Amino acid sequence: MAEIGKDIEKAKHILEAGDLVGIPTETVYGLAGNALNADAVAKIFETKNRPSFDPLILHTSEAARVLDFVIEIPDELKPLAEAFWPGPLTLLLPRKSIVPDLVTSGLDTVAVRIPSHPLTGDLLAALDFPLAAPSANPFGYISPTQASHVNDQLGGKIDYILDGGPCEVGLESTIVGLEDRQVTVYRLGGLDVKKIEEVVGKVRVMTYSSSNPKAPGLLKSHYAPSKPFILGNLHQLIQEHKKKGVQFAVLSFNESYKNILGDKNFILSPTSDLLEAAKNLFAAMRILDSMDVSVILAELLPDTGLGRAINDRLKRAAVRE
Ligand code: TXA
Ligand code: MG
Repeated sequence: MAEIGKDIEKAKHILEAGDLVGIPTETVYGLAGNALNADAVAKIFETKNRPSFDPLILHTSEAARVLDFVIEIPDELKPLAEAFWPGPLTLLLPRKSIVPDLVTSGLDTVAVRIPSHPLTGDLLAALDFPLAAPSANPFGYISPTQASHVNDQLGGKIDYILDGGPCEVGLESTIVGLEDRQVTVYRLGGLDVKKIEEVVGKVRVMTYSSSNPKAPGLLKSHYAPSKPFILGNLHQLIQEHKKKGVQFAVLSFNESYKNILGDKNFILSPTSDLLEAAKNLFAAMRILDSMDVSVILAELLPDTGLGRAINDRLKRAAVRE
């Protein structure tokens, strides 16, 4: 298993040697390596079992450094960088050739973000290279929001996990780029689209089902527990599965089914707070996935604010393909 701690120097040494470290961000934990070292980047793909057509996000400590890796920040996207970095925003920007092909899967854009977690901010500031960091989970599985989640799944493959506590946001960053000079959201995430629209006006959103050639990694099935995950009306689903005699657990937004189910019901937010629900979502999916049941039943949340991103993750978790 990996060592878990708060030692930035130790993390720095491992990364400088071309090895990988689990790092906290405000969204989810990342599996980080030197983004300018193709061997370190190759280790990321191998450790996650990730197909090489799925490009990585480059993380850096400040806006001034972004121009080391990209040709420009287009005028349409600049206001977003100013308003939301550091934070849960990833921008797709025209890359410079210093960024290895493996990071971008050969695309001419590179995904860049400045995370707001203080520990990782300090680490990035201390390094003289950016970090490539996908979510620190095996490809296709639920993203980790605590150091222990990373250890559970990748602890046998990496030496160190920087422990920044539970992630504040709990959903991956919102990915934004330009499509025909139009600001476009490629992945819903921890930055609410409404906040983006307050800054740049109406944007286009690629939904989970759109074919999305610019983001080959945005597969329909993703963020998925290993058990079947069924979405619908919980009252009906519970009746049906009881009748069939199938053992199940329930992920509900605010309503309790505990009187029928005991500890096999996880409530995302008793007060219907979407921020709280986002923060709890992935840990809840992991807990339910580890229970002695054969299916997980869940419901969609209100499709407003962060509810849109949460629903995107729930729908992808329910798809098997
Ligand atoms: O919040 C986050 O973004 C976390 C933390 C660790 O920063 N990272 C994360 O990385 O979610 P990952 O690798 O799990 O998801 C990155 C997504 C992938 O779906 C990938 O296809 C897309 O970003 N992506 C990366 N570079 C891209 C590019 N140049 N064009 C289109 N999509 C890109
Ligand atoms: Mg991921």
